[in-house]
Amino acid sequence: MPDRRKQGVFISLEGLDGVGKSTQFDRLCRALEARGWPVFTVREPGGTAIGEKVRSIVLDPANHEMAPAAEALLYAASRAQLVEERIRPALAQGKLVLADRYVDSSLAYQGRGLGLGVGAVREVNGFATGGLLPDLTLLLDADPDRAMDHLTSARSSDRIERRGPDYRRDVRREYLALAEADPDRLKVIDAGRGIDEVHQDVLSAVLEFLKTRGRGVRA
Ligand code: TYD
Repeated sequence: MPDRRKQGVFISLEGLDGVGKSTQFDRLCRALEARGWPVFTVREPGGTAIGEKVRSIVLDPANHEMAPAAEALLYAASRAQLVEERIRPALAQGKLVLADRYVDSSLAYQGRGLGLGVGAVREVNGFATGGLLPDLTLLLDADPDRAMDHLTSARSSDRIERRGPDYRRDVRREYLALAEADPDRLKVIDAGRGIDEVHQDVLSAVLEFLKTRGRGVRA
């Protein structure tokens, strides 16, 4: 359940590696700032001094012996720190928090992808975040194989990105299942198109949401 005591707005971006999430995140951030929103950005795993240390452990390809449960708990630990240190204070100040990944990444990548079970990972994350969920989540969806081509041509891969095509298909399936189960919070955006087209849809979804919250116009 979203925490109703907070004043700000919490929006997350999700999607498989290689779907263009970082580009869309930056474009959305700039577009909202241009409209006068006090945007506060965070990224996962990481986003705090402690979280960045966790990030380097969890993504290091040398850590191939990491147990699935340890991996899920490390992501949750990084998230707990981020929520406490940065997200809750920003929301309390009425900011619009834009997160590059949040709980849904763990549900898809660890819960389904690693076979830990979505319910178990949800529970761990409920504890880690005190039950804080985004008000709106945009899921950038694209064919996992095409997204992978984009990724491998772009840069060297981390421990998670090195997992095979079956893993990526499972992650995508879970993301889509999460969206189907909670269509009010999760909106699916077809990311298999040009950057501008995707951006327009992302921005429209966010502006539409802000309008329904009576937050369409900033003083
Ligand atoms: P990052 O380099 O930030 O990737 P991206 O630019 O795609 O967000 O690395 C994050 C990696 O960690 C990415 O492969 C997804 C994975 N991840 C999880 O498996 N579970 C999680 O809970 C989170 C937040 C990320």
